[in-house]
Amino acid sequence: MSATRKSKKKSTPEAVYRFPHRHLLGIEGLSAEEIELILDLADSYVEQNRQPNKKSDVLRGRTLINLFFEDSTRTRTSFELAGKRLGADVINMSVSTSSIKKGETLMDTAMTLNAMHPDVLCVRHGDSGAVKLLSEKVNCAVVNGGDGTHEHPTQALLDAQTIRRRKGKIAGLTVAICGDILHSRVARSNMHLLSTMGARVRLVAPPTLLPAAVDRYGVEVFNNIKDGIAGCDIVMMLRLQQERMKGMFVPSIREYFHFFGLTAEKLAFAKPDALVMHPGPMNRGVEIDSELADDIDRSLIREQVEMGVAVRMACFDLLTRDNPGNEP
Ligand code: CP
Repeated sequence: MSATRKSKKKSTPEAVYRFPHRHLLGIEGLSAEEIELILDLADSYVEQNRQPNKKSDVLRGRTLINLFFEDSTRTRTSFELAGKRLGADVINMSVSTSSIKKGETLMDTAMTLNAMHPDVLCVRHGDSGAVKLLSEKVNCAVVNGGDGTHEHPTQALLDAQTIRRRKGKIAGLTVAICGDILHSRVARSNMHLLSTMGARVRLVAPPTLLPAAVDRYGVEVFNNIKDGIAGCDIVMMLRLQQERMKGMFVPSIREYFHFFGLTAEKLAFAKPDALVMHPGPMNRGVEIDSELADDIDRSLIREQVEMGVAVRMACFDLLTRDNPGNEP
C-alpha cells in the first residue's frame, strides 16, 4: 500500500475502529496502514486544537494517569493537554513525591494505580523494556512516553505528522537522522516508522555515537554530516544525551559542533527546500546553530510541538475505543 497522504483516501471512522492494538509501546510492529490511521485522525485533531473551543467529550468519564520516571516538558504536557482536550480526567503522578521514594517497586506502583481503574497509563521510564513489563500487569491501555534507549513512539508519530503535512507525503523522501543515535529512542522509533512508510533513512554520527549493530538496521550510515545530508529532504537533529553517557563519546563540545552541529552552511548540502527537525530539548550551539533552529523558513521545531498534542489525542482516542485490541 502506498504510504503517501495524497495517494490514499482518508481513513473512514469504520477503519479507525479496526485499530487492533491494546497498547502503544513502540512503532516496531505497527503497519503502514495503522500508522496512517493515527495520522489521519490526528489531522482532525489539529483542526480542533486551532479552534477557540478546543474541547470535545470523546474521553468523557475516562481517566488518564501520567507516570513519568524521567524528566519531560513536551511529552508529559502534551499527554496531559491531549487527555483534557478530549474530556478525560487527567492525573499527573509526581514520582519524586510518591511511595516509589519509599522503595515501592515499579510493578507494585503499577498494580496500585491499576486498582484505581484508569483507562490509559502514559509512562516514561529510564530502562528499556520497563514500560512493556508494566503493560503486562495492568488492565488499561499503556502508552510508552519513552523507555530508556528503546522507543518513543508518539515522538516518531508526531514527527511523521509534521513531515506529511509539510511535504505532502513520507514515501520517497530521504531523511537524515543526525547526532547521538546510540542513546536515542527517538532515532529508533523514527527508523522503524520512516522505513515502514517508504522513506529512505540515513544515520549521520561519529562512530562513537552509533550502535554496535548499526549495519543490521538496513539504513545508510555516514560519519560525515555534509555527505550524510547531501540531497536530503529532511534533516532531523538529535540532542547529545550526556546524562546517559558513561565516559567520553566526543572529544569536546566545541569540536562536536564544528564537525556535527547543523549550521546554515552545512544545510546547503541538503535539497534547497530541505527542512530541519529536532525532537527537543535542544542544546543550542551543540547539535544545532541557534539561528537556524529559529529560522521559520527551514525549522519545523515549533510545528513538531503542535503536532504532539494532536497525535497523542489520536492515540488516546483509538486506544480507548471498543475494539478487539483493547479488551481486558
Ligand atoms: N521530545 C521529548 O521527548 O521531549 P521531552 O523530554 O521534553 O518530553
